[in-house]
Amino acid sequence: MKNGMHLTMGIESSCDETAIAVLADGRQLLSNVISSQIEIHTAYGGVVPEIASRHHLNNIPFVFQQALDEAGVTLEEIDEIGVTAGPGLAGALLMGTAFAKAVAMAAQKPLIGVHHIQGHIMANLLEHPDLKPPFLAFVLSGGHTHLVEVKGYNEFKILGCTRDDAIGEAYDKVARVIGLGYPGGPKVDRLAKEGDPHAIEFKRVYLEKDSLDFSFSGTKTGVINYIHNEEQKGHTVSRADVAASFQQAVVDVVVDKAMMALDRTGYGGLAIAGGVACNSSIRSRLQQACDRRGVTLWIPSPIFCTDNGAMIAMAAYHKAREGHFAGLDLDVYPGLNMETGLAGLDRAE
Ligand code: KG4
Ligand code: ZN
Repeated sequence: MKNGMHLTMGIESSCDETAIAVLADGRQLLSNVISSQIEIHTAYGGVVPEIASRHHLNNIPFVFQQALDEAGVTLEEIDEIGVTAGPGLAGALLMGTAFAKAVAMAAQKPLIGVHHIQGHIMANLLEHPDLKPPFLAFVLSGGHTHLVEVKGYNEFKILGCTRDDAIGEAYDKVARVIGLGYPGGPKVDRLAKEGDPHAIEFKRVYLEKDSLDFSFSGTKTGVINYIHNEEQKGHTVSRADVAASFQQAVVDVVVDKAMMALDRTGYGGLAIAGGVACNSSIRSRLQQACDRRGVTLWIPSPIFCTDNGAMIAMAAYHKAREGHFAGLDLDVYPGLNMETGLAGLDRAE
């Protein structure tokens, strides 16, 4: 507590960002420090789990101190500490949770275990404080593609998810085959602006009629086969056309399924979340589709779409208000399910 403000710290270390934020009264962000390892992993073409863990281990005390300094608060003034407990890379998650537990224990602060995707969804509340459950969310990230009914701050129903590659994974793999390197999503997005989205007809996979599930691996394999065939024929491949046509195929499905989910649930708006929610085509085409139907589209700023501590602090703030606290025996859950796994993060009474 400082000047009457209730302070929540959020700690995120599930992949390649060490991030810590301080949030006041669940509304005002006082600091949001993000130490990215992207440049380190670029040399390997993707995140190397052990290297990620080691960098979290080295960075986290400094990110923590910076988050307090920038917020202008002391640890004693922090009211509660939220930390990502899953899903993610086990070793990376362990660094954040071990640190959070040590700080919570030493400073006698309540601890809250947060689901990473719950955090991504709650990022929408950082800039739209009036958004309250229930609402429909669409998580588009490197590890997840989920259409989710947000029934409460700590209660989610998954309406559909990917059956193979997550959308960000498909972007990253396509980027690799066209030689753009890691992380590929933003690079494909940029290159697609120079290409013709209708140059190549890549597969759009809708699965069974009425299914809200996704499958992106067929579209990705279509890109790989196209490049292979064209090269065998001695043709020069336009990387910009491939990027634009791949993006068009993927975003067609994303927009159609989002509209199907709105039809099915009857919500008056959609909140998008996750790193791929930075994508310019997804943002503009979902905006057009939502405008046409007269429903609201909530989109976090790019800095709150990719991994950050602010989203974890927001999720933790609401969990704490509802009495969901973790014990000092909090474990990490690399495959944590957001429908069935949240109760396991709470301290046994
Ligand atoms: O949400 P996030 O930071 O990590 C997970 O929780 O998975 O998302 C990272 C993913 C990566 O696959 C990255 O390539 C993708 O988000 N991404 C994008 C864009 N910016 C980030 N994908 C497409 N277009 C973008 N502009
Ligand atoms: Zn994430």
